[in-house]
Amino acid sequence: MVHRLIPLGLVLAAGVLHAQTPAPASKQGGAAPAIFSMRPAAAYDVSKLPDDHYGRLVRYGKELTDRTFAYIGPEVKDQKMRFAGNNLACASCHQVSATKKFAIPWVGAHATFPQYRGREDEVSTVEDRVNGCMERSMAGKRLPLDSREMKAFVTYMHFLSKDVPTGGKVEGQGLPPFKAPDRRADTVAGSKVFIEKCASCHGAEGAGVRAGAVGSATGYTFPPLWGKDSFNNGAGMGRLLFASAFIKTNMPLGAEHGKPQLTDDQAYDVAAFVLSKPRPVKAHLERDFPARWNKPVDAPFPPYVDGASADQHKYGPFGPLQEKMKTLKESLMKASGR
Ligand code: HEC
Ligand code: HEC
Repeated sequence: MVHRLIPLGLVLAAGVLHAQTPAPASKQGGAAPAIFSMRPAAAYDVSKLPDDHYGRLVRYGKELTDRTFAYIGPEVKDQKMRFAGNNLACASCHQVSATKKFAIPWVGAHATFPQYRGREDEVSTVEDRVNGCMERSMAGKRLPLDSREMKAFVTYMHFLSKDVPTGGKVEGQGLPPFKAPDRRADTVAGSKVFIEKCASCHGAEGAGVRAGAVGSATGYTFPPLWGKDSFNNGAGMGRLLFASAFIKTNMPLGAEHGKPQLTDDQAYDVAAFVLSKPRPVKAHLERDFPARWNKPVDAPFPPYVDGASADQHKYGPFGPLQEKMKTLKESLMKASGR
């Protein structure tokens, strides 16, 4: 492993888009942690693990990640196992079994928990984080902590994170920072990008291409991007800056960090077009970000403490909102007694 000092710029930039919103290293006290490089996908081959309890759980975790719909999806035979509300797989977003750089990989994720999370204003565990995606990205219900499925997810994450020390940073975690164009996103321009660059796989109606018949719990060859079988409006992917970063870096299929196939403008507009479409609605989103100063400017649901419109929080421009939040943060914190 190559150890080097953490470049502060990278930490700050990562704070914009990574789930952890880490404090700058200098404020954490002590030495900055080293940055680890993710290993090539072959290093995460689960087939080489022994056939013991750990090996079996890791393998089931990977299988659940790739074929979530077949085990805990809304079409599985055993009704008690229908935890997910849609037929996506975790790997629909956490690509290549959650080992692809800058596609929100889980390599190192296990080692960064427990962590402070703004959405809850609490220190939460990796199990809470799995359930965050279960309730939002998968539009479903929480997995019980003592279920074999929860244990399998966490054990797979443990396996992927085995060389990363607690508090360690992994290059390629989360999504790369996305510099949003300083304007409202243009959904009409986005619809043209969609037809040209996305519809061939995801379908002109964004409904994706199913792998089998409806009801067969076989998921999708190309996942839906909106409609009733998609992520809900409380999901991370439902935020324009997150979706733009994911799409710019990882779509159309084959794109990767440093080899994008879209410009920033195209990614921003097509993401806005996708997010302008209907999708499942999550109840009680007003309970998110109880410490209001933590609320990202692109969270597309009320309350909006800065007085700006719902439209601007959904479609930008975000620069002015970010500026406003900086000035509001202190008074919001004072008002709550912090
Ligand atoms: C629709 C896309 C999508 C799907 C499907 C999805 N996730 Fe996520 N996941 C995200 C996004 C976006 C983030 C980071 C943003 C955030 O904090 O909300 C994330 C973050 C995570 C993290 C934290 C990663 C880190 O670097 O700290 C974990 C763990 C996780 N997801 C687990 C799961 C599991 C388990 C499933 C399947 C049951 C799943 N996700 C399905 C989009 C998705
Ligand atoms: C060649 C086929 C292909 C094209 C073209 C393509 N995608 Fe995808 N997309 C996929 C596949 C397959 C996945 C699931 C992840 C995987 O298997 O790596 C995916 C996943 C996604 C996801 C996350 C999962 C979900 O269902 O929400 C989003 C968002 C997305 N694509 C948006 C786009 C956008 C926007 C475009 C056009 C700029 C695009 N894709 C073009 C194949 C494609």
